Amino acid sequence: MNNIKLFFLLCILGFLSTETGFAQNPKWEKVAPGVWKTIIGTPDDYNLLKAAGSIPLISGLDKMAQPGFPLSQDKITFRINEGKVALRFPLQKEEQIFGFGLNFQTIFQRGKVLELHVDHYGGKDNGRTHAPVPFYVSDRGYGVFVNAARYIKVWCGSAVRADSPAFPEVRDRNTDKKWSSRPYSDAVEMLVPANGVEVYVFEGPTALDAVRRFNLFNGGGCLPPRWGLGFTQRVKSLYTADEVRNEVKAFNDHQFPLDFIGLEPGWQSKSYPCTFDWDKSRYPDPAGFVKEMKDQGIRLNLWTNPYVSPESPIYEPLKPFYGSHTVWLGQVPDITIPEAAEILGNQLLKSQVEIGVSGYKIDEVDGYDFYLWPDMATFPSGKSAEQMRQTYGILIQKLTADIYHHRNERTYGLVRASNGGASNLPYVIYNDYYSHEDFITALCNSSFAGVLWTPEARNSKTAEEWLRRIQSVCFSPMAMINAWSSGTKPWSFPEVEKEVKDMANLRMALMPYFYSEFAKYHFEGTPPFRAMYLEPGFTIRRTEQAGSADLNENPYAEAVRKEMKDQYMAGENLLVAPMFSGQTGRKVVLPEGKWFDFYTGKYAGAGEVITVEPGLAYIPVFVKDGALIPMMKPQLQAPKAGEKVDLEIRHYGTKEGLYRLYDDDGETFDYENGAYSWRELKVETLKNGKSKTSISSAEKGKPDNLGTISWKEMTTAF
Ligand code: GAL
Repeated sequence: MNNIKLFFLLCILGFLSTETGFAQNPKWEKVAPGVWKTIIGTPDDYNLLKAAGSIPLISGLDKMAQPGFPLSQDKITFRINEGKVALRFPLQKEEQIFGFGLNFQTIFQRGKVLELHVDHYGGKDNGRTHAPVPFYVSDRGYGVFVNAARYIKVWCGSAVRADSPAFPEVRDRNTDKKWSSRPYSDAVEMLVPANGVEVYVFEGPTALDAVRRFNLFNGGGCLPPRWGLGFTQRVKSLYTADEVRNEVKAFNDHQFPLDFIGLEPGWQSKSYPCTFDWDKSRYPDPAGFVKEMKDQGIRLNLWTNPYVSPESPIYEPLKPFYGSHTVWLGQVPDITIPEAAEILGNQLLKSQVEIGVSGYKIDEVDGYDFYLWPDMATFPSGKSAEQMRQTYGILIQKLTADIYHHRNERTYGLVRASNGGASNLPYVIYNDYYSHEDFITALCNSSFAGVLWTPEARNSKTAEEWLRRIQSVCFSPMAMINAWSSGTKPWSFPEVEKEVKDMANLRMALMPYFYSEFAKYHFEGTPPFRAMYLEPGFTIRRTEQAGSADLNENPYAEAVRKEMKDQYMAGENLLVAPMFSGQTGRKVVLPEGKWFDFYTGKYAGAGEVITVEPGLAYIPVFVKDGALIPMMKPQLQAPKAGEKVDLEIRHYGTKEGLYRLYDDDGETFDYENGAYSWRELKVETLKNGKSKTSISSAEKGKPDNLGTISWKEMTTAF
């Protein structure tokens, strides 16, 4: 070889080693049905899935079709450089990406640059949020999860590599109107600040299937107790036992549903930092009080944060386990250490759970930087401040959920931080931000992240706003008024007291439906409240139609291409389109197939954009053709274990109907050992045109809590 040739060869090798030499294709291994994993480099010992400790629900995954690895494996690459892993996943033209956690303003993530960081929500979708879950879903029907408790940077279809095979045309800004400051990018790129990382890919074939697999892989979604789906009021911070008694009595006097009451910081002798012990001046006899409430069917949920006051009975025992920095001068226990988790858990158990407290609201585990420990903080387990920040919310959910699980009692609580892997932990995220519109967008986004979210109602400027917020809350995972500061009651706006009550009653009436939908979250992974993009028949790539969409010619095609963030699905069959204060009407995009008005049963439209003016008393709700909605008579409280419930099953539309109704004791984990039943509700059309209704009976020895059944044909004329 002559010198010139050698020179060129060395140049090429040199180029390859700096530019592409380290880019490699990961090797994928199937670890569960439809779930693929790769291990890149040397991952951290600790990660999101370890923090959550969930066990995949293989029985659920087994039932799903497996279309195979959803991407070209040679297009997925990684490099490890300077202690960081760079990941690259391909994107196709027109492909849309959802997810990356609990965002509040946007649903489409393509084009975003994010840094996933557990934090309070600061008003921008920049990756800092209560649950910055490193999981994304494509409308092409697959999901990707990065299992790292790290601040992960994401360029979601925003960066353009020089060697991209889909390199866009370079344009001249001076002369070309098509010049773009954000040229086309063909990849999702992520940077994980670690020497290695585990990554998972979830098969589809639909985006909903990928989400279902993600949830099932994380243990299946949580199944709340029935009472958790009832109505809940959180009282003012410093309420005494007597004031809580009065509150419960007022609910009863108003005949307003109430299943659980939330006590805010004042139940503790000191907070914040917290003692995790009762304040005896406000609650002189905690055990007696909790029992008295329970005897009236009222459960208690207690606010806390995990930061330990010097006056707490567990301050000394926890001393070896504190991190280097404090939060509001409270010590931060390293609850990744089992002894520390046990000391805290025992305090909660002995002082509260054993006397009948039903759950917790775990506050302040999200942010923000001025409150929480800084990134240089150290913890006795050796976990980094970053790892603790990304997982503290999960750890404390798990710690408290386990206390209840050991006692075979279900709980349902609130938390302000979560992350990937926690789908099966029975907690609903809330926050201090209070935009009704953005709360609905968060509800849509929660379905891409394996978390639940409540658009809590706290207070309002007007009666109209109050009613509109209550309407949304009644179609969410937790129907809650959080009056910790305002003291607002459901009836605080007398002008709309009746309408507010009607909504709460509707929530109670829908209990058999919502409970069955949560069972589907658990056993099948389907989020009970979800974005329209997970709904079959609603897609942004309706190629033929959407290509030349023109709002006048084809409003539906245009509407589905737009970011749809103000309407959502509640369970299998209901489409909810909340009204916001000041609106008298709104547009609703009905997916393909016929849809019917929930209240009247009248035909509403099919694959089209409609305008509704529902009046103040109603939140627009639409029902799929053929849907069966099992409802009960509204009660002030959810049915207790073994209580027989009469059902009215509503049938909507013209199609035959099939619905799977779930039943169990509603309170324990016996369902994990098979103590549950699914029944088939059916409406069939006979040859003579008449319809026939039927309900299958529960298997012998399985839960059977149905009383009398009646059927109601909602769509009488079509
Ligand atoms: C906030 C929380 C509120 C309320 C309050 C009590 O951090 O978000 O919902 O619980 O603390 O001090």
